Amino acid sequence: MKEELIAIREKADESLASALTPEAVEELRVSLLGKKGELTRILKSLGGLGPEERPAMGQLANEVRLHIEARLDAARRALLSKERAARLAEERIDVTAPGTPRQMGCRHPMTIVIDELKELFIGMGFEIAEGPEVELDYYNFEALNIPANHPAKDEQDTFYADGGLVLRTQTSSVQIRVMEKKKPPIKIVAPGKCYRSDAVDATHSPVFHQIEGLVVDRDITMGDLKGSLDLFAKQLFGEDTRTRFRPHHFPFTEPSAEMDVSCFVCGGKGCRVCKDSGWVELGGCGMVHPNVLRMQNIDPEEYTGWAFGFGLERMAMARFGISDMRLMFENDVRFLGQFKR
Ligand code: DAH
Repeated sequence: MKEELIAIREKADESLASALTPEAVEELRVSLLGKKGELTRILKSLGGLGPEERPAMGQLANEVRLHIEARLDAARRALLSKERAARLAEERIDVTAPGTPRQMGCRHPMTIVIDELKELFIGMGFEIAEGPEVELDYYNFEALNIPANHPAKDEQDTFYADGGLVLRTQTSSVQIRVMEKKKPPIKIVAPGKCYRSDAVDATHSPVFHQIEGLVVDRDITMGDLKGSLDLFAKQLFGEDTRTRFRPHHFPFTEPSAEMDVSCFVCGGKGCRVCKDSGWVELGGCGMVHPNVLRMQNIDPEEYTGWAFGFGLERMAMARFGISDMRLMFENDVRFLGQFKR
């Protein structure tokens, strides 16, 4: 029995040396110390020994058991910590490693200008209004006091579709849509796209942007128009900006004017942007024509209003030093990427 016990111990040591996983170690434990294990069998048979043999064999068997248990335990621990170390190494995340760069988009220069204008007018108490770009002839022309045979229609030749639909030539159509729904006081601006059948060149595009403004209330005068638009110009282009109103004609305003601002590039001395005149034209404005109010059931005896419509491409181009309008619509990211802010 003694030899058997020593052989078991040796075999255990040998087998452990080649047990490379915790599972293999466990298998070995079961084969030696499990219910039907080799050592268990011997421990059980100790009872059959004579009293002179039993104490010495008992002691040896116990020593072998403790030895094997200790070695199994040490082997299991070593393997587990090796496994954990391997897993840690494999799953290690280097938080200092550079991330995958994500390409950030940026706003179109026109969007930058529109956002800025909206903010400015909201600050002056205006609401933002919207209307469709595919518009009924009625809103684009007729309700703006431009009847079917009016020469103003020639100047704003556009794209016509069946059913009295046109691509709107001016954001002025939004004036009508607002007055149709809401009674005075009205104080809105409406930025958006407009269309005319113009040939493309450095300063013309069949699609372009305008911002429309409309104020209707009791006791509104041309003085309100001038004061408000002068304040707007100073806020947009700087305190020193001067404004100038030249008489003009639009079917939907009476009186009508064209508004210029002192050149925001040279301050009025004369440069390329203002073509040496010192002034830059922003667009049209005027007192809302009584016919226009009347068509929307607003009594021109009780209410008056002023309106304006400015083109935005020129504003954006001057602001960012863009010399060709085509760049605004080509959507070349090499160009658009320059307006990150
Ligand atoms: N809609 C006009 C245009 O495109 C501009 C304009 C002029 C708008 C006078 C107005 C206005 O609201 O009062 O040429």
